[in-house]
Amino acid sequence: MACIIICALGLGLYCSYLTPGLPERQFLLEIHKSLGMTALVLIVLRIPLRAVYGEPSWQAVPSIPVRIGAHAAHMALYALMVLMPVSGYITSAAAGRSLPWFWLFQWPNLITADRALGRLASTIHHYGAYTFFTILGLHLAAVAWHRLIKKDEVLSRMT
Ligand code: HEM
Ligand code: HEM
Repeated sequence: MACIIICALGLGLYCSYLTPGLPERQFLLEIHKSLGMTALVLIVLRIPLRAVYGEPSWQAVPSIPVRIGAHAAHMALYALMVLMPVSGYITSAAAGRSLPWFWLFQWPNLITADRALGRLASTIHHYGAYTFFTILGLHLAAVAWHRLIKKDEVLSRMT
C-alpha cells in the first residue's frame, strides 16, 4: 500500500502542475485515479483485518510518549488513506469525469452531477494531499530515527 500511495501522491502532485485538458495530464490522471481506487479497496480490507489481528507484539516496549506520538501519527495516516481516495472519487464523480481502473473498466458513478460538491471534494483532496506529505515526512523521519539512531526493532514491524 505504501508503494501505491506514494506513486499516487507523486503523480497527483505532478498533474497539479500540468495545464488542465493536456493529453499528458489526462493520461497520468487515469493512472493516478486507478492507483487511488486500488488503495481505497485495500484500505477497506485492511482496517477490519487490523482490528481483528492487532499489531505485532513488542520485544522491548517503547516509552509512553513515543507510543502516543506514533499512535497519533498512525491514526492520522489511516484517516488520510480513507479521506484521499474518497475525496478524489467524489471530485471526479460529481463532475461526471472518468473513474477508470487501468483501462480495464470504469467504477460506477454513485453521485449525481453537483459542481459545489465537486469543488468541496477537490479542496479537501488538495489540502489532504499537503497534510499527507507532512505526516508521511514525519513518519519516515521517525522510521529513520528508530533505524539509524535507536537501532531498535521498529522497521521490522512494518506489515
Ligand atoms: C491514495 C489515494 C490518493 C492520493 C494520495 C491522491 C493524491 C493527489 C494529489 C497529491 C493531487 C494533487 C493535489 C493538488 O495539488 O491539488 C491529486 C489530484 C487529483 N486527484 Fe488524487 N489522490 C488519491 C486518490 C484519487 C482518486 C481515487 C481519484 C479519482 C477517482 C483522484 C482524482 C484526482 C484528481 C481528478 C486530481 C486533480 C486535481 C483536481 O481536479 O482536484 N485521486 N491527488
Ligand atoms: C504512503 C506511505 C505510508 C503510509 C500511509 C504508512 C502508514 C502506516 C501506518 C498507518 C502504520 C501503523 C500500522 C498499524 O499499526 O496498523 C505504519 C507503520 C509503520 N510504517 Fe508506515 N506508512 C507508509 C510508508 C512507510 C515507509 C516508506 C516506511 C519505511 C521504509 C514505513 C515504515 C513503517 C514502520 C517501521 C511501521 C511500524 C511502526 C510501529 O511498529 O509502530 N512506512 N505505517
